[in-house]
Amino acid sequence: MATGKAKHDHKKQIVIFASGNGTNAENLINYFNQVENIKVSHVFSNNPKAKVLQKAHFKNVPAGVFDKEAFYQSSEMLDLLQEINPDLIVLAGFLWLVPEDIIKAFPNKIINIHPALLPKYGGKGMYGDHVHLAVLKNKEQKSGITVHYVNGQYDEGQIIKQIEVDLDEVDTLRTLRDKVHILEYENYPKIIHALLDENANP
Ligand code: GAR
Repeated sequence: MATGKAKHDHKKQIVIFASGNGTNAENLINYFNQVENIKVSHVFSNNPKAKVLQKAHFKNVPAGVFDKEAFYQSSEMLDLLQEINPDLIVLAGFLWLVPEDIIKAFPNKIINIHPALLPKYGGKGMYGDHVHLAVLKNKEQKSGITVHYVNGQYDEGQIIKQIEVDLDEVDTLRTLRDKVHILEYENYPKIIHALLDENANP
C-alpha cells in the first residue's frame, strides 16, 4: 500500500488501528480535518469486514487490512509504519495485542482508549460490551474511559487520563455503552491534540 505522504505536507500524522465499527476513528478523522497542523493519515484494521474501512474510504483516508502474519510473524507492518513515520499511533477499538517490535520502534507514541476505569475491567477479553456487562454485573456506581500508553500487556501501560461518568440503577448495556461513547467522542480527540501540540488548548 502506498503511504501517500505528500512532499510538502508538514502536518503531524496520526495512524489509527481499529477492529470494528470505527465510530471513534471516524470522530477522530472529523476532528482532525478541522485542525491545521495534524491529520489522520492512515487507518489499519485486522478485520477485512470492519466498518471502519468504509468509514475511512468515505473520508478519503487511506485504509488497509493486515493479517496475523504481517503483524506478528514478519516485519511487514513494522516496515510500513516506519515508512509512514507517524507522530502518534492511536488504537480505537483495536483488539489485537501490539507486538513488541512495534512498541519498541515507537516508544511513547502508541496510545489506546479503554471503555472503563483501569486497572478495573481490563485485560485479555475485556473489550467493548464485555467490559460494560461486567461493570453492570458488579453494580458499579461509576464507569468511564481511560486513555493510556500501550505496552506489551493488555491495558497496562501508563495512564494518560481518566474521565468518570456516574451510573445509576436504570442503566443498561445500551445506556452505558452510549454514555461511554459520548465521553470518548468528546475527549479522545482533545487528549490526542494536546499530546501532539503542546501549544494547543483543545
Ligand atoms: C470503544 O468503546 C473503545 O473504547 C473500545 O471499543 C469501542 C470501539 O468502538 N475499546 C476496547 O474495548 C479496547 N479494549 P468504535 O469501534 O465504535 O470506535
